[in-house]
Amino acid sequence: MKIKKIIDMNSEELKNSLISNSITVCVVGIGRIGLPTALSFANSGLHTIGLDINSELIKNINSGIYPLKDEPEYDIIFDKVIKEKFFLVTTDINESVSKADVILLSLPTPMDKNNIPDYSALRSVAKQLSEYLSEGSLVIVESTIEPGFVENELISLIEGSQNRLKVEKNFAIGVCPETANPGEIMVDFTKLPRLVAGINENITNLIHEIYHHVFPVELIHMPNCKTANAVKLTTNVFRDVNIAFVNELSIFFDKLGIDTFTVLEAAKSKYNFQVHYPGAGVGGPCLPVNSYQLLNSAKTLGENNLLSIIKASRKVNESMPDHVIKLIQNTFNESNVDLNNSTIMILGISYKPNVKDIQLTPAEPIIRKLKTLGVKIKIFDPFYKNEKLFDIFVENDLFESISDCDGLIVVTNHDEFSSLNLELISSKMKSPIVIDSRGLIQKDDAKKAGLIFKGLGQ
Ligand SMILES: NC(=O)c1ccc[n+]([C@@H]2O[C@H](COP(=O)([O-])OP(=O)(O)OC[C@H]3O[C@@H](n4cnc5c(N)ncnc54)[C@H](O)[C@@H]3O)[C@@H](O)[C@H]2O)c1
Repeated sequence: MKIKKIIDMNSEELKNSLISNSITVCVVGIGRIGLPTALSFANSGLHTIGLDINSELIKNINSGIYPLKDEPEYDIIFDKVIKEKFFLVTTDINESVSKADVILLSLPTPMDKNNIPDYSALRSVAKQLSEYLSEGSLVIVESTIEPGFVENELISLIEGSQNRLKVEKNFAIGVCPETANPGEIMVDFTKLPRLVAGINENITNLIHEIYHHVFPVELIHMPNCKTANAVKLTTNVFRDVNIAFVNELSIFFDKLGIDTFTVLEAAKSKYNFQVHYPGAGVGGPCLPVNSYQLLNSAKTLGENNLLSIIKASRKVNESMPDHVIKLIQNTFNESNVDLNNSTIMILGISYKPNVKDIQLTPAEPIIRKLKTLGVKIKIFDPFYKNEKLFDIFVENDLFESISDCDGLIVVTNHDEFSSLNLELISSKMKSPIVIDSRGLIQKDDAKKAGLIFKGLGQ
């Protein structure tokens, strides 16, 4: 017997349908966030279909190859749900969306080279949904979007021009913005509260039931989609702005002869101080993009004069790779080592610790600038051993490859680097110049090991 359309159900009816596994879920975009999400749904016993345009990814998943090696525990669930056939993947929208009651959109929302948010994946899928969505289904947007994007654009794209679909009548929509931290998604999916909002109160309650069935976390009801998306952006832009603040402080305190890390450690004793740390820059698919999403939102509203703090913060964070270059130039000059024709090892290439992800990594502008100065670059990053990045082969062994290096720059503080043998580094390098942009190495330890050391904020 065909179940009642999901959008016509009340919470109790949906709960029963979920318990009896009679709801089919389709996750569109099975990348860093979408795959663990789809695996969680499948692991709850719901038939789950993953849809992606990346045919290589689909082929690998269908061959049993788990693609997210830096996302622990999901490999076990992956093997289980593939074997039990609770999770199927495809590139065919008709084979997936049309068969699902719930469609989760976990599509990328990056920005272009002019920092303009790029919603082309969401727009393209929304247009296809207008053709393939089955009557009465529920669309939930997990992607990070500007407040108002669902209300002002997505709904009409899904409704399309064929008069087949009308929101709240033939389909419903809501959001559950994703907040998980790459590398820790399993932990976050079992701990972090989630925001839920629907096009009306009943839909918010239905979204609540769906997530409650899969994730053992607190679900916070938002009054509407745009407020939920505003919360998501606020939390990340808060970080971007605060990191910019400490980045600028670290440059200023350096001129005053004050150690920024000592300041931050003591500042933490104040009950309402939330610590952020300086670094070579802010990368990844979230923080920089999210700041530009809010700025784009203001521009669309014709409110360009607002959000000046976010603009200034972006400027500071985007200037940090240049500041690191300055630290390198000064330290080489002071040590009488010629930077031109030198060889420098970049330690850590990911945009943040413990993940295999180089999206908008500050390592890239640092490498680009050093190359223009005639520097030969080497890279060591445990997540990218033997791969080729930025036209450079990543070294397999740090200590075997630093003997011809005149300098080493810590760009990413992966946990694996926390117990670096500084004496060995010092003895192996051609000239033992180390620039630490992440507070990985203590000044005193560096000195003891005989390094010529400069730490950002130290
Ligand atoms: N990665 C994070 O740290 C993180 C954290 C929280 C939220 N988010 C947000 O989650 C969303 C997804 O991010 P992600 O990191 O998982 O992205 P991702 O790039 O890892 O994955 C996106 C997937 O969507 C697929 N895709 C692209 N266009 C498609 C289309 N037209 N049809 C079907 N599939 C398509 C891609 O092939 C890819 O596999 C973004 O909005 C992002 O901002 C990301």
